[in-house]
Amino acid sequence: MTFGMLFYLPVCLTLCPPSVLAETIRDHVLRQHILALHPRSRSPMAAFAAPWHNPPTPEKIALGQLLFFDPNLSRCGTVACASCHQPQHGYASPEPIPSGCEGQKGRRRAPSLYNAAYRRHLFWDGRVQSLEQQALMPVVSPTEMGNTWTAVLTYLRTGRHEPTGTVHPERWAQYGEQFANVFSGTITPVTVSQALAAYERTLISRDAPFDRWLAGDDSALTPRQKGGMALFFGRANCSVCHPPPWFTDDAFHNIAVPQAGFEKPEHFPYNARIRTAAAARGWTVPLDVDLGRQEVPALQSSSHALGAFKTPGLRNVTLYRPYMHNGALPTLEDVMQHYELLAAGERRPLVGELAFYVRYRKAFFGAQGGGQAGDIPAMLAFMQALQGSTQDDAAQD
Ligand code: HEC
Ligand code: HEC
Repeated sequence: MTFGMLFYLPVCLTLCPPSVLAETIRDHVLRQHILALHPRSRSPMAAFAAPWHNPPTPEKIALGQLLFFDPNLSRCGTVACASCHQPQHGYASPEPIPSGCEGQKGRRRAPSLYNAAYRRHLFWDGRVQSLEQQALMPVVSPTEMGNTWTAVLTYLRTGRHEPTGTVHPERWAQYGEQFANVFSGTITPVTVSQALAAYERTLISRDAPFDRWLAGDDSALTPRQKGGMALFFGRANCSVCHPPPWFTDDAFHNIAVPQAGFEKPEHFPYNARIRTAAAARGWTVPLDVDLGRQEVPALQSSSHALGAFKTPGLRNVTLYRPYMHNGALPTLEDVMQHYELLAAGERRPLVGELAFYVRYRKAFFGAQGGGQAGDIPAMLAFMQALQGSTQDDAAQD
C-alpha cells in the first residue's frame, strides 16, 4: 500500500457519499486501511489465556453450565443466570430492566455475555475486573437472585432448597459427582464462581462475515454491507469507540442515552434541573439514580466518569434487543437514529459531558449535520455482518 492510498482513503471516506463508496471503494484498499488502523483484528479472537488460577477443563465448563441454568440458586427457586442472560436472546435480557425474584427490578439492562471473556472491565460501569469476581454477585443481589451463600451451599451439598422447602435428589447426585471430579468435592462460593466463569468464557462469537471479508474473501459481504462498513470506519467514525476485533475499546463514554439520569437529591444535587430538562424533552427520568462510571468509588470526583457507560462489543448485536445500559433504545434502527440526533446536535446528555468523539458533529454521521439517505440501512446491514458462529451452539445440543 502506498502512502498516497493512505492519504486518499480518509479523505474519500469523509467526503464521498456511501452510494459512491459502495461502488468505488476497492475492497483491498479498505481492508488495508482497517488492518493498518487496527492491527489486532488480523488475528481475531486469538487464543486467550484463561487466568492461571482457573484453567478451563470440559468437566468444569459442564458444571458451570449446569449452575448457569439452575433456578435453584435463587431464593425464589425460579430465577437462573439464564433467566436474564437468555441464550436464545444473545445472552442478554429482552426486557429493558430484567426482573429478579418476586419481580424485583434493578436499574440496568443485562448485557450480552458474548465475548465477556475478553473484557477488561465488567458491568456497565466497569466496577468489576474478572468473571470469577462477578459470578459471586448475582446470587446474593437482592434485585437478582436474592439468595444467601449459606442457602446455595446447602442446596448444592444436600439437594435441599431451604428457602422454598423443596428437595432435588437428581441435582444433588449430579452436583456431588461433578464437584468431586472438578474440585475434589470442594463446594464453596469460590469453586462455584470458578465453574460459572469457565462456562462464560465459552460464550464466544467469531467467524462473522466481516472476519471472512477481512481475511480476503471479497464476496463475504454484500455491497450494502460494504457501504455500511466504509461508514463505520470512515465518516460515521464508529470504530474509534467500537474497534475490531471485539468492536469495543473497553472504555467508558457518555453518549447521551435518553433517560440516563438521576433522581434522588441526596445523591445528586442538580436533580430538580435534570427533571425539568427531561420533562421539557418529554422524557421521564427513571426512579433510580445512575451515575454510570462515576459510581466506582475511586472515580467519584471525575467529571469524565459522570454519565459514562462501558462501550458494548457489537459482535452478535443483532441477536438481542433492546439496547444501551438502560434498554432505552428498542431497536438497532433507534440506535442509529440516536447517533444521527447526536450528530445534528439535537440530543444532549442530561448529566455529564458528551464524549469527545461525539461532541463534534463532523466526526459523526453527516459531516454537514444530519445523515444522508441510505446511511442507516447500510449501517444496519453492516451490523448483520458482525453476527458470527458461536461455540456454545454446539454446547447447547
Ligand atoms: C435479574 C437478572 C439477572 C440475573 C438473574 C443475573 N444477571 Fe448478570 N447481569 C444483570 C444485569 C442487570 C447486569 C448489568 C449490571 C450492571 O452493569 O450494573 C448483569 C451483568 C452481568 C455480567 C457483566 C457482563 C459485562 O459485560 O459487563 C456478567 C458476567 C453476568 N451478569 C453474569 C451473570 C451470572 C453468572 C449470573 C448467575 C449467577 C447472572 N449474571 C445472573 C442481570 C442479571
Ligand atoms: C464516543 C464513543 C462511541 C462512538 C463514537 C460510538 N459509540 Fe456506540 N456505544 C458507545 C457506548 C459508550 C455505548 C453504550 C452507552 C450506554 O449504554 O449508555 C454504545 C452503544 C452502542 C450500541 C448498543 C449496543 C448494546 O449492546 O446495547 C450500538 C449498536 C452502537 N453503539 C453502535 C454504534 C455505531 C453504529 C456507531 C457509529 C455511528 C457508534 N456506536 C459510535 C460508544 C460509542
